[in-house]
Parts: sequence; C-alpha cells; structure tokens
Amino acid sequence: MAIVMEEHELRQLVQSCRFAARNGKIPDYIPALKKADPGLFGCVVCNGEKTITAGEVEEPFTLQSVSKIISLALALMDKGEEAVFQKVGMEPSGDPFYTLQALEEGRPSRPMNPMINAGALAVTSLLAGNSTEEKLGRLLAFVHELTENTSINICEETAQSELEHADLNLALCHYMKSHGVVHGNMEELLEVYIKQCALRVTCRDLAKIGSVIGRNGNDPATGRSIIPPRIARIVKTFMVTCGMYNASGEFAIKAGIPTKSGISGALVSALPDGTGIGIVSPPLDEKGNSAGGVKLLETLAERRKLSIF
Ligand code: DON
Repeated sequence: MAIVMEEHELRQLVQSCRFAARNGKIPDYIPALKKADPGLFGCVVCNGEKTITAGEVEEPFTLQSVSKIISLALALMDKGEEAVFQKVGMEPSGDPFYTLQALEEGRPSRPMNPMINAGALAVTSLLAGNSTEEKLGRLLAFVHELTENTSINICEETAQSELEHADLNLALCHYMKSHGVVHGNMEELLEVYIKQCALRVTCRDLAKIGSVIGRNGNDPATGRSIIPPRIARIVKTFMVTCGMYNASGEFAIKAGIPTKSGISGALVSALPDGTGIGIVSPPLDEKGNSAGGVKLLETLAERRKLSIF
C-alpha cells in the first residue's frame, strides 16, 4: 500500500513548518514541561508496511492529553459503553480543557466529553484494578501492546512536577465526587491520571498507536485485534469532535484528520487507510495544540487530500 508521501517530501515539509512553531509558546503550568526544547520537531508516518520519518524522531516526550484516547479505549473495554457514558458525555464542549465552569452549568453535572480534563479523570476512575499500581500496570501493558514497545515507562520527574501543581485537576475530582460522578480516594485518582499523562514515548510510538486506531483496532503487523472495532470507532469519533479541544471544528475543516493533541506538543493522527502519524513540536498555540504540528497536518492534508470529509 502506498504511503502518503515519499520520505524526502516529508522532510521538506517538516523543514518548511518549523517556522510555525516559533509562533507557539511552551506551557508553563507544569514546571517539568517548561524544559522542553522549542526547536524539537519530529514526525513519523507508518502504515504497517512502510515507515517514513522526518526531524528529531528519537527524542522522548510525555503523552499528556494524548493518553486520554488510550484510557478511554481501555475503560470502554473494561466496563462497556453504558457504564462509561453514564459518567461522561459525548458532546464537544467549546471550552478550554481545564474548565470547571461547564461542570457547574451542566445538569446532571457530568463532564461534557472524555477529552476535557474532567471527562478524562472520570474515565480514568473507571479503569479496572484494585489499586493505583494495578490500574497503571494495566494501562502500561495496553500501551506496550499498542506500540509493541515494552520500554515505554512513566517519566517520574514530569509526574512529580505535575502532582505538585495539580490543584485545578484535584478540584475537578472533588467537584465530581460531590456530584457522584467519581468515588473513592481523589488523591489516588489524580495520581493514576497524572501518571498516565506522564507516559514517555517517541513519535514512532505515536504513529503506531494512530495506525492501530486507523485500522479499527487491528495491529498493523499481525492483523490481531487489540481494540474492538466499535470502540476504535468511538475513539476516532472523539478525536474528530473533541481531539483538538475548542479548536476541533476549525481543525476538522482545515485538515479533516482524526487527531488528538497533548500539551507536550504531541499529536497522534489516525487515517482511514490505517496510516498513523505521530508528531512532536512543543510550542503550543493559544488553544493548547502544537503550533508547528497543526501547520504540518493542515499542509499534509491539503497536499494529499487526506480529509475524511
Ligand atoms: O491534566 C493536565 O492538565 C495535563 N496533564 C494534560 C493536559 C493536556 O495535555 C491538554 N492538551 N492539550
């Protein structure tokens, strides 16, 4: 199967998008993320048969909000659709990812969707396991399976740094607990969520995850089902409607590729032909998405007619 473009073209494209990263800003609310190299720019495209790379693709970074699609898939596999969507809605919010306001306005007070922080916290609370260790162990095993990379681990430095500055996420947990959305120990829930965000990967891992989701949950190498097709479809749909937060509508029009972003500057995209794209470029635009990465995906989509619409 032909891949979206030749490697030399991708390299030129990455080179030409580096300028867009200069318009972005490294986020400062998690101290450990402030150390990110603003010049880092990597992209991997893989379709199971072929992998092409451009830029600095061996540099590790943390998943951050990209982890929300992984925990959502696992929670749906663990507990089923009914249980998950009792706790979290399916609608885009049009609000920033950290919003508390939408929780107060909504009745019943349930997070709007699993891609905003409140929704992701509610989803994480549903993961099967009797302890934080067991939940994280299952999540890690799932990520190893998706990426075929068993060296992926938690970046403890990033996790500790975020745990020390997680008042807003803890407030979201307590607010949801008071409304019966989540139960149990909120410090423990916060720890699992922050550690899932701190899983350290490379662009190669992201591209592989995108490829599995693009193939309706099947491993590109073996064809084995890792995520049931219906759950892969739900995940892809959320990537389109909420994956880029309150920039999801604009991104759907300009690129039209199911994509999820994280504040580390990570982006994972899943194309319907089973091609996965993994990108990192840490400076973020005002909506919290990688400025250079968004430019790259929009240009790629335009040139290769990749929009699913
Ligand atoms: O919970 C947080 O705020 C971070 N660990 C993740 C947020 C994030 O990646 C939002 N992405 N664009």
